[in-house]
Amino acid sequence: MSVQIIVGAQWGDEGKGKIVDHLSHSADIVARYQGGANAGHTVILPPARKGEPDAEFVLHLIPSGIFHPKVTCVIGNGVVIDPAALMNEINQLRSAGIKINGRLLISHNAHLIMPYHKLLDSAREQGEQKIGTTGRGIGPAYIDKYNRIGIRVVDLLDRDTLSKKLRLNIEEKNQILSKIYGSKKLDVDEIISEYQEFDKLIDEYVTDTSRFLAEALRRKKKILAEGAQGALLDVDHGTYPYVTSSSPTSGGACTGLGLPPTAISSIMGVAKAYCTRVGHGPFPTELENEIGERMRTIGGEFGATTGRPRRCGWIDLVSLRYSIRVNGIQKLAITKLDVLDDFGEINVCTAYLVDGKRMDEFPTDVPTLERVVPVYETFKGWKMKTTNARKFSDLPLKAQSYVRALRKRLKTEISMVSVGPRRDQTLFVR
Ligand code: GDP
Ligand code: IMO
Ligand code: MG
Repeated sequence: MSVQIIVGAQWGDEGKGKIVDHLSHSADIVARYQGGANAGHTVILPPARKGEPDAEFVLHLIPSGIFHPKVTCVIGNGVVIDPAALMNEINQLRSAGIKINGRLLISHNAHLIMPYHKLLDSAREQGEQKIGTTGRGIGPAYIDKYNRIGIRVVDLLDRDTLSKKLRLNIEEKNQILSKIYGSKKLDVDEIISEYQEFDKLIDEYVTDTSRFLAEALRRKKKILAEGAQGALLDVDHGTYPYVTSSSPTSGGACTGLGLPPTAISSIMGVAKAYCTRVGHGPFPTELENEIGERMRTIGGEFGATTGRPRRCGWIDLVSLRYSIRVNGIQKLAITKLDVLDDFGEINVCTAYLVDGKRMDEFPTDVPTLERVVPVYETFKGWKMKTTNARKFSDLPLKAQSYVRALRKRLKTEISMVSVGPRRDQTLFVR
């Protein structure tokens, strides 16, 4: 029995897509457990024919195991599904020759993103309380889920149930939306037709995925649970209110897939060799200067979903230790080490100062986080290209020392190091 959870250990975009794709070589099932099309997980595939460029895919809803023909991909009950985004993704993969039928399962209990969720998300972002969301309707969809008025995949099966639920919802939503957008009104019949069309397209994939996973475990299959976003964006454990509306931390994998905690065998965290954040909210090690600018340029730090520039800064071990604790991370994959290749000095934040007092624990309240001053330990850069390294010992000694120093200070094994976006740019650390 084996379920390995892969979680983002920072504020998302750590390279989970690349790592999950890599680990999928030896998996039977890859399952997404939360979030929605706010996620953007990049996977780079080698060219189909010599001389052609690499193929880049950005996945928003479909798990990053989809490029391995023997892997079954599951979208769990904890995910909120935008039908249009899902169909787009399926079509894109199909046109690239990826087989989907028989390899994708969608939970009948997953909630749907409705057109009003996106409108409400955008409306909120125009007000005082904006947090820089991806605009994909995520918050409003989870509000409805917890308010017990959400519409689930299973509701699409029966036109009457769907119609009844939608009418109640739309009456309320139209009142709110007309206040914000003036006369803009949602048409129930239009939405019903659109979503019933979607039902026809996904019908073959819909099933009780919790039961499927339980049966797979009984048959000793290997499951990867792929987190979206990152621990510091978790609605309970992140930098609230500047968070997403789901539980990216490892605990979310159990509720989001219908797996018992006793089924979990290991937890891996993914973290960049530095740190980024998209959207608003505190970021103690942020570099709003030309060093941060250089990281953004070299690391290509622009959102995979929205294209927004990502805020960049030094790696923050205070937040990473916290992330390791709340997730129970046993092993780390450190990505994008190559982005630091050209830096003469590399800083690592080891503690915070608040009013001159040292703080080793990560405070999750925004007012404190906005006041903390990072304490840095400075490492000499290796000033050499690491992108051609194929094993850990190929790395320049200073780069090896940097990784070892992170391991020592985090008291956590680092089992993988990534030195580029491609599959072959992944080193296993012994
Ligand atoms: P995710 O959301 O955690 O899956 O990460 P994203 O795909 O949003 O962002 C990670 C970006 O970094 C993508 O463009 C990846 O192709 C790229 N990437 C992943 N690992 C590495 C690496 O080790 N080095 C470099 N230079 N790029 C990487
Ligand atoms: P992946 O899976 C980075 C951020 C948004 C915003 C906040 C809330 O690719 O790592 P939301 O749309 O979820 O209501 O926005 O969360 N955010 C992400 N940042 N990576 C992501 O996903 C993110 N998904 C949401 O920028 O600050
Ligand atoms: Mg991403």
